[in-house]
Amino acid sequence: MIVSMKDVIKRYDGERLALDYLSLDVKAGEVVGLLGPNGAGKTTAISAIVGLLDIDEGIIEVFDKPQNNGNLETRKRIGLVTQEVTVYEDLSAYENLLFFGKLYGLRGERLKSRINTVAKLIGLEGRLHELPKKYSGGMKRRLNIGCALLHEPELIIMDEPTVGIDPQSRNYIIEFVKTLAKETDTAIIYTSHYIEEVEAIADRVYIIDQGHIIAKGTVQSLIESIKGDQRIAIDVKTPNENVLSALEAIDDVVGVRLENKTYHITAAAHADVLDKLLSILATQTIRNVANEQADLEDVFLTLTGKSLRDGEAG
Ligand SMILES: Nc1ncnc2c1ncn2[C@@H]1O[C@H](COP(=O)(O)OP(=O)(O)O)[C@@H](O)[C@H]1O
Ligand SMILES: [Mg+2]
Repeated sequence: MIVSMKDVIKRYDGERLALDYLSLDVKAGEVVGLLGPNGAGKTTAISAIVGLLDIDEGIIEVFDKPQNNGNLETRKRIGLVTQEVTVYEDLSAYENLLFFGKLYGLRGERLKSRINTVAKLIGLEGRLHELPKKYSGGMKRRLNIGCALLHEPELIIMDEPTVGIDPQSRNYIIEFVKTLAKETDTAIIYTSHYIEEVEAIADRVYIIDQGHIIAKGTVQSLIESIKGDQRIAIDVKTPNENVLSALEAIDDVVGVRLENKTYHITAAAHADVLDKLLSILATQTIRNVANEQADLEDVFLTLTGKSLRDGEAG
């Protein structure tokens, strides 16, 4: 076990609970997504795992040892990419990598070879002698990630690494995390309030709200757990009300509605109804068919009654 948190409670200044009986586990080689809206407690949970803050109650073990504030041996085996980008703007990218490498005890040839390897991983080879202040937000973020990888940590923690950066760097980081996970045995904790990212990256997801884990599992199992109906929209040239009852009679079809030139069909999750729908509509000219599966947003909505996406502006 890489990380084990059990019933962890954290209060800032004796105020509202930031962590409210939070429990989670991370095993070797897995990418764990921590998904939750702003203020849910993601950064607090991570700070506790790394040993950067004291908790009020509960147990945290990292690498099978109790975690406590200031545990340097454990800290050296973790690569932390904080929510705020922390690079020195007036040192070149190369000097930044040198600095952080030395901080983790790397020296000489080993340090140089790690810098080369990491520069390729983050796609900044050839740009290392520039100052980060001339970089785009996405490049700064990639440098920042590189600084956390030099010492080959067994656990990498990334706290909302794609907030506020261009889509290209965002995709780069997502692909990079997937590759890193596949090619090494590194455990990765990835926090985000972007549903699509967590769905793309995580082997397992914890959904966190108000300091508490409200759901956990693979993306697929979470979606299945809410038994989300699938929604199919079929646009036609000339709709015909007379087929509605035939569509409704199909097994696993829950509801049918005609709106303008679109049939909106609701069917049980994962039921194969499309062939039957299309054969009933065979005499009509079909313009478009859209299938909307439930996603983690629906899971969050079902469990909390709130929308996760509402928090994205904040
Ligand atoms: N240093 C702090 N002092 C007081 N309250 C804090 C502090 N850091 C976070 N909080 C509060 O704790 C809760 C969880 O915050 P945080 O862990 O930053 O959430 P997230 O990272 O999911 O956005 C929020 O209500 C936040 O306002
Ligand atoms: Mg945060």
